[in-house]
Amino acid sequence: MGEQGDTVAPGGPKAWGGRFATTPDVRLEAFNASVGFDVRLVREDIRGSVAHVRMLGRQGIVPPSEAAAIEGGLWHVWDEVEAGAFAPTVADEDVHTAVERRLRELVGPVAGKLHTARSRNDQVATDLRLWTKGALLALLGGVLDLSEALLDVATAHEEVAMPGYTHLQRAQPVLLAHHLLAYVAMLERDADRLRDAYRRVDRSPLGSGALAGVTFPIDRERVAADLGFAGITVNSLDAVADRDFVLDTLHACALIALHLSRLSEELVLWASAEFRFAEPADAFATGSSIMPQKKNPDVAELARGKTGRVIGHLVAMLVVAKGLPLAYNKDLQEDKEGLFDAVDTVLAVLDVLPPLLRTTRFDRGRLGAAAEADFALATDAADLLARRGLPFREAHETVGRLVARCLADGKTFADLTVEEWASVHPIFAEERPPLTAPESVAARDVPGGTAPPRVRAAHAAAAADLAAVRDWLQGEEAVLAAVLRPPASRAPVADEPAPA
Ligand code: ARG
Repeated sequence: MGEQGDTVAPGGPKAWGGRFATTPDVRLEAFNASVGFDVRLVREDIRGSVAHVRMLGRQGIVPPSEAAAIEGGLWHVWDEVEAGAFAPTVADEDVHTAVERRLRELVGPVAGKLHTARSRNDQVATDLRLWTKGALLALLGGVLDLSEALLDVATAHEEVAMPGYTHLQRAQPVLLAHHLLAYVAMLERDADRLRDAYRRVDRSPLGSGALAGVTFPIDRERVAADLGFAGITVNSLDAVADRDFVLDTLHACALIALHLSRLSEELVLWASAEFRFAEPADAFATGSSIMPQKKNPDVAELARGKTGRVIGHLVAMLVVAKGLPLAYNKDLQEDKEGLFDAVDTVLAVLDVLPPLLRTTRFDRGRLGAAAEADFALATDAADLLARRGLPFREAHETVGRLVARCLADGKTFADLTVEEWASVHPIFAEERPPLTAPESVAARDVPGGTAPPRVRAAHAAAAADLAAVRDWLQGEEAVLAAVLRPPASRAPVADEPAPA
């Protein structure tokens, strides 16, 4: 094709049909094309076309024998995809045009009937919804794997105490298992968000046409069922213009990434000499090219860092969508690269964090000692006074003064004699506050608290929830896999190109 757009000889190649007198300029072609990235939708595209042409045949919109020939050709293209032999070029513009072009090479002019009662607008919406369903299931699987790893690490460190923090200052002792289960709780909500997004994406837009519906007696429900969709979209304009499902998925990805970033930040902190709470296994750490002593937590740092682009993709798509008039606009082609990258990135992080966690060594001694240091049990002392009738504010004041005195004398609560306790408040003459982390955590025996029986119950509940979600996931995966698979028996297609 010429640089400025060559005149098309009568009957010669034209990208968009008889309306155009010249071929596309090469710069338009390069700028306009999406095939470089939307080729990733090729299986969904072929499968969507198969469902469409089956329906056209069944409805008598296309003679059944021709519909069968087109379907056979589509599965042949599928085989070429599987064999790595499907080679779209920039002249194909996008994956939809590329598949149809290849189909025409295989089955001849009858291929031109495939696009009856369809537009690329409802086609791309269908392809992307189908792809997104698979992506959401893959993400869910990754979230469940990471939750399982966290639960296993919690089990392996059931009674290990650590300092809980506020303002990154030691605050009160908690169980390490309780801390890890906080992330399991976040991931449970993430899993819920993914399923919620799945429920909404699970509608077939096919049959919406370019924007207004189509003039043929199509059967949208049948196409939807063939493609494994739970139902159909309700408004043709919305169906081709809506990318909420992309935004839902990006939002779910962004929150997963954000949660994993917080976890990663803690792993980075814990691996530092300042904390020394945990050390990644050699297989999941990196060295320095100059400092021989270094052992760096690169995996956690990268997981934290990659969150930036995932959040960026969400913001980018919100901005793309916000000013668009109904219905389809080419701006919407910008939906794919960010979605693909966000899903790939989050899947990569979900793949590497479980083995990192499972192989990280936690320093029980340092964690336990740190849990009791720096007056982390001051609240327990104040609680004792309050339990014995002192207004809590007064108890707080009293223990605060004691902390100040200890700090001035270079002492801890454990260094104080019974007499010294008694001098603080007469109640302490009769009863001393707990001084160990196990006593402190055991006392926080409320739902959601860090007492060992509560943590065990939370662990059991999370494991049961995980198993139920995993069951649901496996069911949906099986349904989707059955859709995205050629039928067991199909008509052979001649390998030599049909006459044009
Ligand atoms: N490549 C296009 C996209 O991703 C497909 C739809 C094209 N539709 C159109 N009216 N040009 O959005």
